[in-house]
Amino acid sequence: MDSSTRFLHATEMGVGAWAWGDRIIWNYGGSYSDEDVRGAFDISLEKGIRLIDTAEVYGRGRSEQLIGEFLKETDVPVLLATKFMPYPWRIFRSSLLRSLRSSLARLDLDSVDLYQIHWPIPLVSIETWMNELATAVKEGLTRTVGVSNYDQSQMLQAYSALARHEIPLASNQVEYHLLDRRVEKNGLLARCQELDVRLIAYSPLAMGLLTGKYSVDSPPPGMRGRRYGRILPKLPALLKVMTQIGQDQGGKSNAQVALNWLICKGTMPIPGAKNAKQAEANAGALGWRLTEGQVAALDEASEEFLKE
Ligand SMILES: NC(=O)c1ccc[n+]([C@@H]2O[C@H](COP(=O)([O-])OP(=O)(O)OC[C@H]3O[C@@H](n4cnc5c(N)ncnc54)[C@H](OP(=O)(O)O)[C@@H]3O)[C@@H](O)[C@H]2O)c1
Repeated sequence: MDSSTRFLHATEMGVGAWAWGDRIIWNYGGSYSDEDVRGAFDISLEKGIRLIDTAEVYGRGRSEQLIGEFLKETDVPVLLATKFMPYPWRIFRSSLLRSLRSSLARLDLDSVDLYQIHWPIPLVSIETWMNELATAVKEGLTRTVGVSNYDQSQMLQAYSALARHEIPLASNQVEYHLLDRRVEKNGLLARCQELDVRLIAYSPLAMGLLTGKYSVDSPPPGMRGRRYGRILPKLPALLKVMTQIGQDQGGKSNAQVALNWLICKGTMPIPGAKNAKQAEANAGALGWRLTEGQVAALDEASEEFLKE
């Protein structure tokens, strides 16, 4: 493993900051405030979470800006991951470094620890963006570079393009949780492990569904309700297994079981948290491990959600 990416492999779990400033999906400014978000940040650090994942698009820069403010008030060293969105109108490669510099300005940092391409939008070639990421590393604007939502073939292209600059592809951030196990089925997880590319698991609680607080009678609001409506009737059987395993582990919550399962799979979950209570609860996924038998039982119980 390249020494520059070791910190990512040593990080068991991070915290996702999409909801820190996003009104459209998460209702920031409505059901929770800046104070709540600050509480999530503070307690995450207090409980030993060191990596924060954000993006220039989260809350149109608000997430990065809030993190920049919070960072000024702590001495705890934080690992910062953010992302470049290759919008279709960003046809010039220079847009990447420009965007990175804007992110750094909002974060009030000289460099980040991980800079990721958010989506593989094909108008500009993967090689072009990788060459720009390499420049970002060489200019000291980011310590490592990664991709997000890349399938296996796109990831291999990125890996090879970076290798020509002798820079490792540090990570691929993709959707992975008990209700979506495509990365196991399509070989992406195995390929990441073979290449020492850290798989960062996003939406690890299936946008809140795996906490067990949503049901057919009480669906999640807005877009989440529409997205997961069909899944809700099938969820109780899986939640029952998760709850039993949590009890056998001395009183772990469904969310903690869901996150620990991802850690046991060799990935880094980055659960979102809107407030201190959620962040503290999620941090309780650290410091213990499901048994092999419990992982197998969760695999079996989630089998029917396996997607191609
Ligand atoms: N690269 C990408 O394309 C991409 C895409 C999506 C996400 N991400 C990253 O992944 C991170 C996490 O994903 P996500 O935010 O989509 O979903 P998630 O982590 O699966 O779920 C987060 C949501 O679940 C609820 N929740 C969290 N912890 C809880 C707890 N302990 N008890 C009860 N409710 C709890 C909260 O919403 P409610 O209270 O409203 O239910 C919270 O906002 C994001 O912040 C972002 O950094 C990346």
